[in-house]
Amino acid sequence: MTYQEYYGEDLPRLQSAEKTLLDLVRGYPAQDRPDGLVPILYCKSRIKRPESMMAKLRLRGLETDASTALEKMHDGVGIRVVCSFLEDVYQIASWLKVQNGFSVQAEKDYIAHPKPNGYRSLHLILRFSHGLEAGITAEVQLRTIVMDSWAALEHQIKYKKSIRHEKTIRDERKRCADEIASVDLSMETLRDLILGGKWE
Ligand code: GTP
Ligand code: MG
Repeated sequence: MTYQEYYGEDLPRLQSAEKTLLDLVRGYPAQDRPDGLVPILYCKSRIKRPESMMAKLRLRGLETDASTALEKMHDGVGIRVVCSFLEDVYQIASWLKVQNGFSVQAEKDYIAHPKPNGYRSLHLILRFSHGLEAGITAEVQLRTIVMDSWAALEHQIKYKKSIRHEKTIRDERKRCADEIASVDLSMETLRDLILGGKWE
């Protein structure tokens, strides 16, 4: 099924919300930073594929039509913001939360409270309040490139089922996540040492 067939007249609203958010994040005011560091390495966005939206609705025992999707699901529009340092994640999130055109419906801090498997990211659910995109919700995922490396690899292997070594896999996945979480802290310390920031 195509996006047009599934989302119908709501498709331009989703596309508009996606573009508004991407333009906004890409315009994050960082040019005047004295240290010359780049807070946002890259952004990605997507509108959820009809098949995966329908599968998610079905899993939750809901009708699979697009209007149910837009009413019940908050991640029809998804934006991922991949940042350099941990501090950037929180600074960009604070900035984003006070921008015009939407309200913050929910915030999930899986950095302060990682998922049991080790997943880390900061999620904001935004609800648009103006224009064509009014009523559309979007999920913004903010994470460091270190967290993104874990999530990208984990995402690829999570659907592969293995009956053997189940506990080892679970433990190793968590150990990797925890190990790289310490890399984020070390990189920040390194940055501060080099820039002579708060350590001087
Ligand atoms: P979903 O049905 O997965 O969307 O769950 P949810 O609506 O309860 O939201 P949650 O905050 O758990 O996850 C939202 C999104 O974050 C997911 O669709 C993924 O993109 C990402 N995510 C959450 N948990 C994981 C994880 O364990 N691994 C990876 N790679 N991504 C995750
Ligand atoms: Mg999702």
